[in-house]
Amino acid sequence: MTIIDGKATAAKIKEEIAQRVKDIVAAGGKRPHLAAVLVGHDGGSETYVRNKVLACQACGFESTLVRYEDDITEEELLQCVEKLNNDKDVDGFIVQLPLPKHINEQKIIEAIDYKKDVDGFHPINVGRMAIGLPCYISATPKGILELLRRYNVETSGKKCAILGRSNIVGKPMAQLMMQKQYGDATVVVLHSHSQNLKEECRQADIVIAAIGSPEFVTADMVKPGAVVIDVGTTRVPDASRKSGFRLSGDVKFDEVSKICNAITPVPGGVGPMTICMLMLNTLAAGERKYY
Ligand code: GUN
Repeated sequence: MTIIDGKATAAKIKEEIAQRVKDIVAAGGKRPHLAAVLVGHDGGSETYVRNKVLACQACGFESTLVRYEDDITEEELLQCVEKLNNDKDVDGFIVQLPLPKHINEQKIIEAIDYKKDVDGFHPINVGRMAIGLPCYISATPKGILELLRRYNVETSGKKCAILGRSNIVGKPMAQLMMQKQYGDATVVVLHSHSQNLKEECRQADIVIAAIGSPEFVTADMVKPGAVVIDVGTTRVPDASRKSGFRLSGDVKFDEVSKICNAITPVPGGVGPMTICMLMLNTLAAGERKYY
């Protein structure tokens, strides 16, 4: 049984990116430049953005943090997006979500120049991904593909069950896994209204759980020898921890790990890969690889 180590893989990819940046600079090129827009003081968002800036430093990128208080108007934020769209020095940028309630998130996402949308959230990137054109693929699905590839998991012709149909994981994951150049798998998407969910899941060679329901996937739902990817990261109360909580995946790790062929742990599986994939997208943006 293999533990798919996302933390070690992410560290290795960051080293590879840093080496590529050194080569670019040595050849007289410019460092990739990522800008991040952070509105307000949400604790989670502050941490994510801080980690993104630190990852930029580790990779040798330029980074710019643009901060606003949470009373910024939608119009002002749109102006900020427009400025970044037109800033020739910025290769890619993200607007950290969630945004305050008075701002229409979709409107902001759609205002971002899709050529700089390294989050891969713009409908043009989502659409291009769905039909297999060059595009920015969003971080979590891209990170899962990278883990499957680096751990030599055979996907072609295999049955892949995806639990969850969210716009950020389930749907793009299904699109990618069915496509010839990414997964070439037979895909079934299971969700809260699926009949025979357990039986369907049990037929899969690869299970990708992204429903946000702690320990939902039990051993009786997994085919012996399957590969299990756990995307869940739910905070559950844990009095024995200093923080008062622990992260729980969607998979009952203790029992599923006894029967599967490979599994991602939580934490240390899919999670560490996501910021790393943002860095890969920014590197591609700097090299004008897609657009
Ligand atoms: N909030 C939580 N995850 C993300 C992400 O990947 N990108 C952005 N922009 N906001 C987020």
